Amino acid sequence: MRLQDKVAIVTGGAQGIGREYCLRYAEEGASVAVLDVREEQAQAVAGEITQSGGQAMAVVSDVTSEQAMADAAKAVAERFGRIDILVNNAALYYDIDMTDQTIDYMKKVLDVNIFGVIIATRAVYPYMKQQKSGSIINIASIGAYPIGPRGVDGPDLPTVPTSGYGLSKSGVIYLTKSWAKALGRYNIRVNAIAPGVTLTEATLRVTGGRGGPDAWMKYTALDRLLNPQDLTGAAAFLASDDSAQMTGQTLVVDAGNIMLG
Ligand SMILES: NC(=O)c1ccc[n+]([C@@H]2O[C@H](COP(=O)([O-])OP(=O)(O)OC[C@H]3O[C@@H](n4cnc5c(N)ncnc54)[C@H](O)[C@@H]3O)[C@@H](O)[C@H]2O)c1
Repeated sequence: MRLQDKVAIVTGGAQGIGREYCLRYAEEGASVAVLDVREEQAQAVAGEITQSGGQAMAVVSDVTSEQAMADAAKAVAERFGRIDILVNNAALYYDIDMTDQTIDYMKKVLDVNIFGVIIATRAVYPYMKQQKSGSIINIASIGAYPIGPRGVDGPDLPTVPTSGYGLSKSGVIYLTKSWAKALGRYNIRVNAIAPGVTLTEATLRVTGGRGGPDAWMKYTALDRLLNPQDLTGAAAFLASDDSAQMTGQTLVVDAGNIMLG
């Protein structure tokens, strides 16, 4: 087991891909804090882990609240004694409205997807710094890479189109490199995963109006989309000592999507 005796916090761990990170980390021997605003689902995931003999706790917290996240990190450190791994997975995705182009809405997306990542990392940082070790894994997206055909033949554009989601995820990649540089001196590694289109409930909602998953499949070299479990190998690798010499990297796990340009 690659993560024996390690302690992990997975934000947004109550459903979708976050849930799979939690289950995989537990299988690999880690004690897992399932952190989410969705209380019942977070408890269900923690319950699943403990029922199969693992160590887990549900932590109800909002990543946009500095106080709540400081309390959450303290509760995890008190319960499990340390914090080795932080997966910044929580994001405004399930409830996102990709068509809303207002500045107010963009700010709302950035609040969770960027400031939530910063706040969670700042909450956990003192523990990792004191231990002189840690692995932070930021969840980006292929949405950070503007790919696909130019919009020359589309409808008239009433304003300069801006995906708050894509913007937030490219910010996550910037934070990954910037923190890797700053925190290396404390033996804290910071890497990212950029998942491709993954068949979660959230994706089915988001892509529903745009042709659904079948329409996206033709953009992958491997001719398939991802299941949430497909991302857990990269997450286990980046959390473990197998990647001890890696920091500042973004692993693109997308069945060959962005490589097609
Ligand atoms: N599913 C995909 O195709 C895909 C592709 C690329 C990247 N991603 C990224 O992977 C991650 C997980 O995706 P998913 O499909 O499982 O999404 P999801 O929307 O199902 O899960 C996100 C989780 O984050 C939680 N969350 C949202 N706001 C929160 C807050 N303020 N505080 C605490 N928790 C909060 C939600 O309750 C939810 O459990 C996200 O970061 C997403 O952007 C997903």
